[in-house]
Amino acid sequence: MTQHVSITEFLSQHLVGEHSIALTAMLKDIVTACKKISLAIDQGALSGNMGSLGSQNVQGEVQKALDVITNDIFIEENQRSGYVAGMASEEMDDVIEIAVKRRQQGQYLLLFDPLDGSSNVNVNISVGTIFSILQSANAKPVLSDFMQAGTTQICAGYALYGTSTMLVLTTGNGVNGFTLDAGAGEFYLSHPDIKVPADTQEFAINMSNYRFWQEPVQRYIDECLQGVEGIRKKDFNMRWVASMVAEVHRILVRGGVFMYPIDSKLQSKGGKLRLMYEANPMSFIVEQAGGAATTGIQRILEVHPNGLHQRVPVMMGSRNEVERIVAYHSKKIAH
Ligand code: AHG
Ligand code: MN
Ligand code: MN
Repeated sequence: MTQHVSITEFLSQHLVGEHSIALTAMLKDIVTACKKISLAIDQGALSGNMGSLGSQNVQGEVQKALDVITNDIFIEENQRSGYVAGMASEEMDDVIEIAVKRRQQGQYLLLFDPLDGSSNVNVNISVGTIFSILQSANAKPVLSDFMQAGTTQICAGYALYGTSTMLVLTTGNGVNGFTLDAGAGEFYLSHPDIKVPADTQEFAINMSNYRFWQEPVQRYIDECLQGVEGIRKKDFNMRWVASMVAEVHRILVRGGVFMYPIDSKLQSKGGKLRLMYEANPMSFIVEQAGGAATTGIQRILEVHPNGLHQRVPVMMGSRNEVERIVAYHSKKIAH
């Protein structure tokens, strides 16, 4: 029988460099938080937490009970290591300061989307948690300390609460995936050194927004839909789960391209997905797996943030497809 490597063993063997002690401690807490969230989600309708609260988050979205419960779990568990000096989340208007207990070894910022795809939670479809870790220049961080481009991330990851619960991580040295053995209460390495295939015949986009998209996106999708008869000379398949985590995970495993572009309805907001705790961590992971991530005109990781809840257009996945989408935006490939 194969002896699986636990996430604890894996991290102790693979984390090296100046952040390794702090990252080991912070990731231990993230693992605990994700296990607790997984259990809360597993309870489903039995928990009585599937409904909406009367409240809205800072972005005017109706909060579900589980949005708030998962946010609370993440905050509570991630104070334990003593390395996290500040946190920010989709569900909180402002950043929060945490008392650092291990300042001599560095101080860090944790940004997260505690429940991604929350519209799926009461219909029993996959949801996730996304997180990003930055260094903090300040032991008592304020908003400006968080305003770093995605290239500065020292760790990013997501938990996927799907048919199995998984944790997928990068610390800037490739991407590894771990699957939760619920009986043992431990994550084990199941997807070592994930690589996104450079080519694909599968795209993920909410097609109902077609008429609102900009021309380069309409052109890319039109050409996919033309299949073997069109200029792409191959048939494409489509998927849309409405959970970015599930979508990007599928792309990491079998290739594809995920798109949530800007459209005329979203113009004033700048896009749908949030830069700091959705686009940046997922872009870091996709790039570390050999893929690419763009707004259409700029590498996502190089966008300099101007707000905690800033939104950006997102297109990521198989490198050759993303490069084609970029070329269409810059009109480098003529019709
Ligand atoms: P969240 O639940 O954290 O607000 O994020 C949902 C996001 C993303 O995960 C998904 O790709 C997208 O919103 C779905 O949007 P549509 O409902 O417009 O398809
Ligand atoms: Mn989300
Ligand atoms: Mn969310």
